[in-house]
This record gives sequence, structure tokens and C-alpha cells, in this order.
Amino acid sequence: SIEEDNQLSQEVKEMLISLPRQKGWNTPYTYLFHGFWFNPKEIQVLRTFQNHFQAKDSDVFVATVPKSGTTWLKALTFAIMNRQHHFISSKNHPLLSFNPHDLVPFVESNLYDQHDKIPDFSNFHEPRLFGTHIPFDLLSNSIKDSNCKIVYICRNPFDTFISSWNFINKVEPPPTPPLNLEEAFEMYCNGSFGRGPFWKHMLSYWNESKERPKNVLFLKYEDMKEDAKFYLKKLAEFLECPFTLEEENEGVIENIIKLCSFEKMKELEINKIGTFQGFGMKVDNKLYFRKGEIGDWINYLSPSMVEKLSKIIEEKLGGSGLNF
Ligand code: A3P
Repeated sequence: SIEEDNQLSQEVKEMLISLPRQKGWNTPYTYLFHGFWFNPKEIQVLRTFQNHFQAKDSDVFVATVPKSGTTWLKALTFAIMNRQHHFISSKNHPLLSFNPHDLVPFVESNLYDQHDKIPDFSNFHEPRLFGTHIPFDLLSNSIKDSNCKIVYICRNPFDTFISSWNFINKVEPPPTPPLNLEEAFEMYCNGSFGRGPFWKHMLSYWNESKERPKNVLFLKYEDMKEDAKFYLKKLAEFLECPFTLEEENEGVIENIIKLCSFEKMKELEINKIGTFQGFGMKVDNKLYFRKGEIGDWINYLSPSMVEKLSKIIEEKLGGSGLNF
């Protein structure tokens, strides 16, 4: 029970009592906290993170809804930012022997996962690179007030849902009894499955990217798949380390695309046999590399599900300019 959970502070235990809750997708209950659904541990982590994290202007964040291309974007951003000291074609490139989640830790899960212990950043070199699934609204004020950069990637909700559902049902041991597709879909549509509501998560970054384009870059998985080179250039410019003409001529951009490609990463030893500890789960790295395709939802969703989700997308995102 919440009362006996020693991972939670007294403050969070008391807060949870007053929050709306419903059946959770990865814990018995999920709670509505500032407009988003979280499990108790996530709320704890958020509180600790919000209270303690000190952003630096040079920090870079890779932000996503889970299963939108986090692993890929972490790899690309890491490769771009570190290419002066980790040459892309080096046989010792860190991306060949580490999973991107090990190179780019999630602030909430890998760094602030204990409410009574503040992480030690002393051996992080700058610019620091972090990952997060926290919606923009809930990032610490220190980040919002700083000049740091955030790259956000989102993916069409149909594929994001199918990717999430496949993932959560393969994690061992399962965090909760397996959810069938229909049940998970209802949760996704009401906003409670996988850091939702997904539309609010996307809009939080979308709106910020319009207001502060120098600080928030908004990308889409499908666009990146279609024209990786164009978006890699955009990403490097945004990060203030644009590719030089010489690099372009040497094929550095193509080499980054290859190094971080689904096919290449999936076949690496570390991603076949390694594990990643995060969000209270121990996850086999191979679960981060499933199909890497656009449109796999067609194999899962019934026509009525497609209709329902299309309506939600239209209703929630229709006026925003963000479309899929
Ligand atoms: P599928 O389940 O549709 O295959 P995340 O990294 O946010 O957890 O998202 C995982 C999704 O991204 C999975 O989608 C996974 O296969 C895909 N993915 C992982 N690495 C990728 C890469 N290098 N390029 C493209 N897609 C990738």
C-alpha cells in the first residue's frame, strides 16, 4: 500500500490521498497530477526533480512521450554533440558498446529515482545531455527559466500506442497483470496510458517550440524517417554545432544516420543481450528495437478503434497545426 511504500516521502503520500485516481497501466493505480497521469513513484521522482534540479544554460534535453523514438533521438543527439571527441567512424564509438539510454540518462528515472538522495553531477561533462518523458509544463522552473535546449520528438499516436502496448507486455517481470489491447486502448484514449494524455504532452512542447524556437525543437518520427539528412542538419544547427562543408563532403551526416539506424543498432551485441534499469523496471535492451516501422498499427487496430482515435486526434490537436 501507499502508506507502507518507503520509496515515497510523507509529502507525496499525503498528496496522493487527494488526487483523482484510476486503474493504472503499469501500477495498480495511476494518479492525475497537474493534468497528467502518473504512478506514485513517478510523482515522487517529479517532486524531487522539480525541487532540486539546477539547469545550466548549456544543458540539452531529449524529451518524448515513451515509444516515440526516444532511443533513436538520444543516439542521434549524442553522436552530433560529441563528434569532436568521438569520431563517428571510430571503431570505439560509445554508441557501438553502450545503449543510448546508458549514454543519455533519463533525469527522472536514472538520476532522481530516490527521494532521499540527490544525484551527483560532478562527473558529467558539459554540455550535459539528458533524456526525459516529463511534459513541458512539469519541468522544473530552473529548466524553463534557463537558456537550455530541448529536442522533442513525437510520433503518430497509432504507432506510439502499438509500440507502447507491445513493450509493456514484454517487460519481465510484468509491472502489472498484462493488459489486453482493448483495455490498453481505452486507457490511451482517456489519456491515462503511457504518460498521457498524449495530446497534452505533445502540445506542451509544440506550443513552447512556437514561442521559443531557439530553445525547443519539435521533430516528428515520420519526418525523420523520410528525410533524416535534412532533420539532422536542422538538429545540429539548433544545437549550435552545425555541420561544416568539410564534414558534409566527408559524409559525416550519412555516417551518423548509419551509426544510429535501427538496423545497425538492433544488431549490436549490447542491444541484443544488455539490460537497462529504468522507471523501476529492468528492461532487456532488445525491447527498445522492435520493428522501427511506420504504420504497424494496421496489423492491430480494428476499424472502430481507428475511427475513435482519429476523432480524438482531430478534436484535441485539430486547431493546433500539429497533425499526423
Ligand atoms: P516499434 O515498437 O514501432 O518498433 P522509444 O525509443 O521511444 O522507446 O521508442 C521505441 C520505438 O522506436 C520502437 O518502435 C523501436 O523499434 C523504434 N526504434 C528504436 N530505435 C530506432 C532507430 N534507431 N531508428 C528508428 N526507430 C527506432
